[in-house]
Amino acid sequence: MKKILVLNGPNLNRLGTREPSIYGKTTLHDLNAMLEKQAQLAHAQLTCIQTNSEAEFINAIHKAGDENINYLIVNAAAFTHTSIAIRDALIAVNIPFIEVHLSNIYARESFRHHSYLSDIAQGIIYGLGSKSYRLALQAILDI
Ligand code: DQA
Repeated sequence: MKKILVLNGPNLNRLGTREPSIYGKTTLHDLNAMLEKQAQLAHAQLTCIQTNSEAEFINAIHKAGDENINYLIVNAAAFTHTSIAIRDALIAVNIPFIEVHLSNIYARESFRHHSYLSDIAQGIIYGLGSKSYRLALQAILDI
């Protein structure tokens, strides 16, 4: 059975009410429920984590390594653009991951155009709202 972990970074707990014109109206709770159902139908095990703390994000990556998680879906949110430490943690555990973003980061402020994760990701899906996650999960389930 595939073991998949979805990692969500800072402020994504506010989905649904946070800048809905950019991030949509789906709450994190509803997004997680959709992904869990999608995984269940494919007999995969899926866990979703959200944290506002960079240290917790890194610890969750390390734990995924210890627990032999097979794939990660990573939305590091603002840490995408700042965190060499998260990049290093992903390299350290060597778990394939898909980077996702709800918004099209290349159509926004220039500081969002650089990701510390993209060149080490297996794939990147962005700009499709909650569908970015659903497509990433489908890609993993199809492997
Ligand atoms: C985001 C894009 C980031 O630039 C931003 O800081 C976020 C969310 C997205 O999913 O579109 O918090 O990762």
